[in-house]
Amino acid sequence: MRSIKCAILFSGNGSNMQNLIESLHNKIFYDNANNPVRLETTLTLCNNPSAYGITRTHHLAIPCKIINHKDFSSRSDFDNAMIEMLRAHSIDIVLLAGFMRILTSCFTQAYQTINIHPSFLPEHKGANAIKESFNSTQSYGGVSVHWVNEELDSGEIIAQEKLHKIPNESLEDFTSRIHALEYSLYPRAILLALGLKDSVKSVEELQ
Ligand code: GAR
Repeated sequence: MRSIKCAILFSGNGSNMQNLIESLHNKIFYDNANNPVRLETTLTLCNNPSAYGITRTHHLAIPCKIINHKDFSSRSDFDNAMIEMLRAHSIDIVLLAGFMRILTSCFTQAYQTINIHPSFLPEHKGANAIKESFNSTQSYGGVSVHWVNEELDSGEIIAQEKLHKIPNESLEDFTSRIHALEYSLYPRAILLALGLKDSVKSVEELQ
């Protein structure tokens, strides 16, 4: 059976990383010709040694390698160290889940990479998207999943959904609803990007 090996890169809390592993890892999907395809997350990479997400990977029993960007003198040296690690694990595709570093073209040319961003892009790019869209005069926020290029939160959109604001809602409640939408949209968008149908079976079910 064909297998697609994914690596997930994260920098902090890691809740999207955990959700992707719980939704997709070691599950069987079907391609357009109805051939089964197994998705595997064989590696996670984190650039921040104190990220809570590292603890999550231990509970999930998924390997996590820490490559601290502060140990490198340039962005491309850091990216090349990650590429080396991904190649050593025969990774096919990279999924960013709260990975807060801009990747250089050497990385985006080496690996097809998908990102999730908590706004209705191209609105509110950058690190404070949820707060900025909450404080904006727009009646909605949103979540976008897109292919990654070397520009911040740019690249072709794979899927995006709006989230309508509720009058008098707190930032905390709005943030929770954005995260809930992320957990629903990101796995679906990855399957769409990979041309796979969401008719899932676990590996155990097939045995
Ligand atoms: C998520 O909301 C993700 O969309 C965002 O960081 C958060 C990470 O949370 N990413 C970006 O803003 C990328 N520009 P998590 O670590 O709990 O998944």
